[in-house]
Amino acid sequence: MHSDSWALKAKKLGLRSRAVFKLEEILSKTQALRHDSLVLDIGSAPGGWSELIKSIAPSSEVYAIDLLPMDPIKGVRFFQEDLMNLEAIEEISSLKLKFNLVISDLAPNLTGIRAVDEENIYELNIVTLKTAITYLNKSTGSFIIKTFQNSLFKKLRTQMEKSFHLVQTYKPAASKSKSGEIYLFGDKPL
Ligand SMILES: C[S@@+](CC[C@H](N)C(=O)[O-])C[C@H]1O[C@@H](n2cnc3c(N)ncnc32)[C@H](O)[C@@H]1O
Repeated sequence: MHSDSWALKAKKLGLRSRAVFKLEEILSKTQALRHDSLVLDIGSAPGGWSELIKSIAPSSEVYAIDLLPMDPIKGVRFFQEDLMNLEAIEEISSLKLKFNLVISDLAPNLTGIRAVDEENIYELNIVTLKTAITYLNKSTGSFIIKTFQNSLFKKLRTQMEKSFHLVQTYKPAASKSKSGEIYLFGDKPL
């Protein structure tokens, strides 16, 4: 399906974002979401992923964070904050090593200068990976992160392999083929 068709489908279904289809495909392949999971959604606005988690697993508990505001979702605790300040959110920082699933759809603002953008994406991905390791349960934790196929992708995957027992790469059907967007899945922190 063309990427505009995914956007149209999302609109027709009343979904908050086209990104929902991407997470849905990865979750169905990895079975990373259990009915009672504690989930941290990083870069959550406008809320498509959080809403999907609650619809697949209504008993799950979701904490979500974004720089931008997000309309409320029942059962989702949202914090309008920079990921860099996550530690300061007492309600979340008191849950270290407890989350079953951390999902990140973060993307930095692009400058158009390839080397700078690739470095910024990598740095943001590494901060997110460190956050995931700090917050995920050691035996049941799973991590899904959006990144981009660029010259630093291999370096990021190597860092993921140092952090998880299992690492897999996903390119969901709803992801624009030209966008370079790609997802890494990490299971069971080392
Ligand atoms: C592609 S959107 C997420 C879409 C979301 N997964 C959905 O399905 O609705 C990426 C989000 O990352 C957020 N973001 C980027 N940098 C951030 C940061 N440092 N801290 C928190 N959120 C950030 C942006 O504000 C943006 O809303």
